[in-house]
Amino acid sequence: MKKYNNGEFRAKDVGKSYEVYGWVNKRRDMGGVIFVDLRDRSGILQVVFNRDFLKNDFKLAESLKNEYCIKVSGKLELRGERLDNPNLDTGEVELIVENLEILSECDIVPFNVYEDAFINENVSLKYRYLELRKERLQKIIMTRHKITKSIREYLDREGFIDIETPILCKSTPEGARDYIVPSRISKGSFYALPQSPQICKQLLMVSGFEKYYQIAKCFRDEDLRSDRQPEFTQVDMEMSFIEEEDVMNNTENLLKKVVKDVLNIDLPDFPRIPYKEAMDRFGSDKPDTRFEMELLDLTDILRGTKMNVFNNVINDGGIVKCLIVKNNGDKYSRSDVEHLTNFVKIYGAKGLAWLKYDNDTFNGVIAKNLEEERLEKMKETFNISNNDLILIVADTKKIVYASLGALRLKIARELNLIDENKLNFLWVTDFPMYEYNETEKRYKSCHHPFTMPKSIDNLHDYENCTAKAYDIVLNGYEVGGGSIRIHNPKVQKIVFESLGLTEEDIKDKFGFFVDAFKYGAPPHGGLALGLDRLVMILTKTDNIKDVIAFPKTQSASDIMMEAPSDVTDDQLKELGIKIDLEELNE
Ligand code: AMO
Repeated sequence: MKKYNNGEFRAKDVGKSYEVYGWVNKRRDMGGVIFVDLRDRSGILQVVFNRDFLKNDFKLAESLKNEYCIKVSGKLELRGERLDNPNLDTGEVELIVENLEILSECDIVPFNVYEDAFINENVSLKYRYLELRKERLQKIIMTRHKITKSIREYLDREGFIDIETPILCKSTPEGARDYIVPSRISKGSFYALPQSPQICKQLLMVSGFEKYYQIAKCFRDEDLRSDRQPEFTQVDMEMSFIEEEDVMNNTENLLKKVVKDVLNIDLPDFPRIPYKEAMDRFGSDKPDTRFEMELLDLTDILRGTKMNVFNNVINDGGIVKCLIVKNNGDKYSRSDVEHLTNFVKIYGAKGLAWLKYDNDTFNGVIAKNLEEERLEKMKETFNISNNDLILIVADTKKIVYASLGALRLKIARELNLIDENKLNFLWVTDFPMYEYNETEKRYKSCHHPFTMPKSIDNLHDYENCTAKAYDIVLNGYEVGGGSIRIHNPKVQKIVFESLGLTEEDIKDKFGFFVDAFKYGAPPHGGLALGLDRLVMILTKTDNIKDVIAFPKTQSASDIMMEAPSDVTDDQLKELGIKIDLEELNE
């Protein structure tokens, strides 16, 4: 068995013989002496093939190519000061090889493993097993292991029990599109892969386990983004006899431990912001608080202005908000602002009004048309000073939040306002109970239909009813979410009704679940962390694929395995499924 880690040899180890294994990361042939960087998962050790010491035919050493897998033995020696490599942890030492054994040869590799250069995704994912040899990905995957280890330690210590739940299930309530699996035995019937273990974990509370966790695979057939995969992992937790405060404290302590264990950073307590305030100040329910530039309200200052673009919106119940880009006005020319205008239009804004403040005066079209006293009021209220750029959107709340929230992030990135070393965790609390679904033209649950309302008195006030639901946000990403659940069948019935679900819908979708709550269900609640997103941020990458060993592409396929793929006619026949080729070709 391999005994040594190549990356751990130091000056104190010299003078003895060792047998080491690994891959040829790089080789340099100096004629008569060949230097090889021998890589294993711990790092690199320089091994030296010298005719005078090598017992094999030297031709064997000459035949080595990158990524050959080899075993060598010999004596560890100091390199001598002149030859030290300070960039390498093992840079003071080298192994003088006496015996070489080639364990596996390697074809010409499609890309160099030793460098972190850009590779087209079609190639990198096709040869993912080779890409995973790269130092950067090895480090990320090993950090992921450290994170899950730390999580398991914490949850075990706190009395959580790890329980697996089924993958072949019925649809769960998260509301994305399901992945479905046809049944051979019950032809024409389908399983759904779980979007989360939500239903099962609540049933485990009914069963009396009190504290459950699972590092669970979840499946959602939704449009992919840089922080979304169709198949992802949650740290799923559920607890009985608790309140919101308990779930949040538990999660916060868990995350503090993980960050301490993995990055050796002591986190302060996480701030808490109610949903409404988050939207108002940042235009987002997952605010990135690593920089300021909050959304500022101009509605009152502009109420009654002669400028109809603003006044009409305000009279129609809309709002006017702005961002003040401090001391960076000179970075934005007129055409740059036009680009920003096109950007906010993606989010439904009709336009982007702007003002610049310079030489102690306001400039821009708006400055000419807006009443002097309103400009003065703006200046005073928001401490506007020279070289500030003010960007204004007037519209419905929803559009103002979405457009300025996105613009805030875009400008912060453009101007490098984000301190990448910060880890800003925060809680967003008091989520609305419902959200309006434009496509279905009806209100749906904001979290899921088992979420406990703050009060049952205003359950039919769709715009104002809030839920015992909370999200955990890190650096502008939603890294987790949860709620206190309804354990009282009567309350559950009212909530289902307020969502427009008929008795039949309820029976069909959640009948077994609703039944379970007739049998002494304890009060309970929980939360799930998006493990991939958490790892992504803690390892400082902005691509979720980097933290998953075998990720899917944008089109939800696995290029290496070639999945999804055809199945045989016999398999289809067994399942009672016919493919409509005409439909497919459309
Ligand atoms: P929710 O749907 O908010 O809650 O999911 C919890 C967390 O999972 C992560 N996440 C994802 N990560 C990567 N790719 C995806 N497609 C993806 N979708 C979600 C996010 C998110 O915050 N059952 C509830 C939890 C509960 O109430 O206990 C649930 O699934 O980080």
